[in-house]
Amino acid sequence: MIELNYDNCLDRNIGKAGVSEDKLGALFSRAGAALEEYKESPPGFMKLPLRFGEAEKIMKEAENYKKFKNIVVLGIGGSALGNITLNNALCHPYHNVLEGRKRPRFFVLDNSDPSRAEALSEAIDPEETLFVVITKSGGTAETLANFFHFLKILKTKSADWKENLVFITGEKGFLRDFSEEHGIKTFPVPEDVGGRYSVLSEVGLFPAAVSGIDILSLLEGAADAAENEHVAVNYAALQCYFYRKSKNINVFMPYSSRLASAADWFCQLWAESLGKNENTGPTPVKAVGATDQHSQMQLYMEGPKDKVITFLGVESGMPELKLDFEGHFLNGKSMRQLFKAQEKGTAGALAQAGVPNMTFKIPEVDAYNTGELLYQLEVACAIAGKILEVDPFNQPGVEAGKKLSYKILEDG
Ligand code: PA5
Repeated sequence: MIELNYDNCLDRNIGKAGVSEDKLGALFSRAGAALEEYKESPPGFMKLPLRFGEAEKIMKEAENYKKFKNIVVLGIGGSALGNITLNNALCHPYHNVLEGRKRPRFFVLDNSDPSRAEALSEAIDPEETLFVVITKSGGTAETLANFFHFLKILKTKSADWKENLVFITGEKGFLRDFSEEHGIKTFPVPEDVGGRYSVLSEVGLFPAAVSGIDILSLLEGAADAAENEHVAVNYAALQCYFYRKSKNINVFMPYSSRLASAADWFCQLWAESLGKNENTGPTPVKAVGATDQHSQMQLYMEGPKDKVITFLGVESGMPELKLDFEGHFLNGKSMRQLFKAQEKGTAGALAQAGVPNMTFKIPEVDAYNTGELLYQLEVACAIAGKILEVDPFNQPGVEAGKKLSYKILEDG
C-alpha cells in the first residue's frame, strides 16, 4: 500500500524549518480526530469506494460502447480532471496513436475555447464517436457549449444521433431535462458528491470502464485505504502545520509522467476545497519530475522559503531501459535508475536547503494504487478543511465570475 515518507520534514534533517518529532503526536492526533468526526456522518465521497455493485453494472453497460472509434468527454473542473487523471495513469500513454488498439481513442474537452472544439471536430468523425457529457449541475456553460457544437454536427450527419450520447448528470438541470425529453442514456452523479470528489463515482468510472480500465481494482484500492488511513491523516497534519508556519505554497510534484495529470486534479481539489473565508488556503502548484528540475527548481531551492513540496515516487513497474554508451557516466545504468536518482537527489537537495518535503511512495501505477492515491488525497483534503476551519465541500467564490460573464454575454 501507499506510504508517506516525511523524514525531510523533520528538524533533525532539515534544520529549523522542520518540525520536531515530539510535536508529531499532537499534530497527528488532531488530524485523526478530524477523520473520526467525518466517520460519524460520512460525506458522500467516503461512500463511493464501497459501491462495487454499481461498478459492476457500469462495466456491463460500458461493453455496449467499446465499439466506438472515439470517446470524447465533455466536462470541466471536477467533471473532467478525474477522467484525464485516470486515462493518463492507466491507459497506454500513446493509446490514441497505437496501431491495433482495442479501445476507443480518448479525448477530453474541458474549455470553452472555440479553437479546441473546432480542431477536435476536424480530427474525429462525430458519427464514430461517443460523446460523454458530464455535468453535475446539468447547466455548466462551457460543457453545454461544447455539447451544442457537437450536437449540431451529429444531427446533420445522422438520424441516430442519440446513440452517440451518454450523459452523467445530477437529478435536476438542463441536461437531465434534455435526457428525459429525448431518451438519452444517463448515469447519475450521486447528489451528496461534489465534482472534485467525484472521480470514483459514475463520473470517473463510466469513461474509465469504456477505456478498459479495471474499475473494480480502482475501488478496491480506495476501499482498502481505510486500513491505511494514517497516510491521509499524516499528510493533512503536516500540510496544515507547514501552512501555519507560512509555507503557504504546496508544490505537488509527481516523478511519473503517468501521474502528471494527478497534479492537475490535486491542484483543483486543494484550491477549490481549502481556499476560503477571504484569508485561508494553501496555494497548490503543479510540477513534474524530472522536467521541472529544469524549470521551477531554482526557485524552490533559492527563492522565498514559503513552500512545502509533495513528491509522488513510484517504487516499481517502470521499464528499466538499459543505457549503453561506452565511456559516458550513464553507461551500464538504466533510465529508471537515473529517474529514481533524480527524485532522491532533488528531495535531498531541498532538504539540505531547508525546504520541507515529503514523498508518497506508490508501489506501482496500477488501478489499485491509483484508486488508493486519489482517495487518500481526498480524505486528506477533507481533514485539512476541518483543521483550517473551512468548508472543504463548497465553492462560493466560483459564482461571482460566472455571473459577471453571463451578464457580459447577455449585454452583448
Ligand atoms: O468541484 C466542483 O464542484 C467543480 O469544479 C465542478 O466540478 C465544476 O464547476 C463543474 O460543475 P458541473 O459538474 O456542475 O458542470
